[in-house]
Amino acid sequence: MTTGCIILAGGAGKRMKTEKPKVLCEVLKKPMLAWVLDCAREFGFDKIGVVSGYRREMTEGFLNANYEDISVFYQDEQKGTGDAVSRAEELIRSVDRVCVLCGDAPFMDARTLKSAFELHEKTNAGVTVISAELYEPFGYGRIIRDSSDRFSAIREQKDCSPEEAKICEINSGAYWFDSEALLSALPKITNKNASGEYYLTDCVEIIGNAQAYKSENPAITFGANTRADLYRLNEKARTSVIERLMDEGVSFISTDGIIIGNDVKIGADTLILPNTIILGKTVIGKNCEIGANSRIEDCVIGDNVFLDNVKAVSATVEDNVKIGPFAQLRPGTVIRRGVKIGDFVEIKNSEIGENTSVAHLTYLGDSDVGRGVNFGCGCVTANYDGINKYRTVIGDDAFIGCNTNLIAPVKVGNNATTAAGSTITKDVPENSLAVERGQMRVIENWDKNFKRKKK
Ligand code: UD1
Ligand code: CA
Repeated sequence: MTTGCIILAGGAGKRMKTEKPKVLCEVLKKPMLAWVLDCAREFGFDKIGVVSGYRREMTEGFLNANYEDISVFYQDEQKGTGDAVSRAEELIRSVDRVCVLCGDAPFMDARTLKSAFELHEKTNAGVTVISAELYEPFGYGRIIRDSSDRFSAIREQKDCSPEEAKICEINSGAYWFDSEALLSALPKITNKNASGEYYLTDCVEIIGNAQAYKSENPAITFGANTRADLYRLNEKARTSVIERLMDEGVSFISTDGIIIGNDVKIGADTLILPNTIILGKTVIGKNCEIGANSRIEDCVIGDNVFLDNVKAVSATVEDNVKIGPFAQLRPGTVIRRGVKIGDFVEIKNSEIGENTSVAHLTYLGDSDVGRGVNFGCGCVTANYDGINKYRTVIGDDAFIGCNTNLIAPVKVGNNATTAAGSTITKDVPENSLAVERGQMRVIENWDKNFKRKKK
């Protein structure tokens, strides 16, 4: 039995007041569409397709950059969910069962899809709708049951009678279809309703043999039409990620200002301090202290790491490292075990060897630094000559004196020393000292009030 998934992502989302298609609006800094795609991937469909429409170049650009293996269908005019699904006819024809999902309902999960699929198969249904009970069902399609409690139709808000509007069981917008039943129902959908749209929900009456799988988790139905809705989704996601991490042994003294993306992994006994933002595919080890005021994106961080007021993007930090306060790790940086990085240090596209210390006010760019190196205060690698970038290579146990400028490309050998204030333009051999500064002159009996007296 083969399964396919169609994700509807064509709508504009006017009330969001965004230039983007609504499905690219973000929850925890991840587009709603990506949440739905990740859920579909977790389920393990044989095929996944997305129907784009409004500003297709943005939706398709996002898909090409992040989800290469997904097929895209295009709906030129947003004539309704039924019309949108019919655009993916090719996908429907190629599988036995089709699941349709809304690209603007980020909290759908693979477990719910599995349970609904089991019901669908057990009952031999033509269509199975995933439903839920809401206290405030306004805006959603209602699940209509006939006198013998059999699920018979979905009624959209605008088409509801006052009695129907009181029903609290609603359509999540996610469904399982038998492919053949869906293919024969799609051409029969009309736009004779209050919105003048082709409603996918009409399939329930057209196919007839319908089931409703009622989920215990109303969040699977939550979507966002406005910025306020989006804020509520963010708050909900934020708390549930933090609660999940607590279950896994992560500590929080206060959750104030803490935002952690739902793909982030953190080890037990790690403490996250306020105003810390951890995003992307970041993995953090055990027994770390992260924050306060740190922003970590797409990083791999080991165990026993201490980050205080650190910004790090696409960097790797091994075990027993201490960084901060006020340091920045830019993409391509690898910090080996036991390194210490102090205040106002920026490191870019560099590898810093084990137990090296970069304690204060230093910039290291495009550098390969050995083990046990000591940087004095205020060292700079001049990696860019205005046209090209060059590497600086520093051997093990070197000592880079305060205020050294290293003009790349340049090499400092193992156990070599650069004198404070030197601008190093030539390679320094191992075990040597490079001094590059003028002789100091002393003018004796200097009257420091000389100028004032002259006046
Ligand atoms: C739809 C359902 C409603 C359900 C609700 C759950 C219909 C007729 N109604 O209503 O029963 O309770 O979802 O959220 O299906 N889209 C397209 N092309 C279109 C129209 C929509 O791709 O022509 C996409 C949208 O981008 C969105 C999804 O389909 O991702 C749902 O569309 P939306 O307009 O939000 O439907 P609702 O009115 O919320
Ligand atoms: Ca919607």
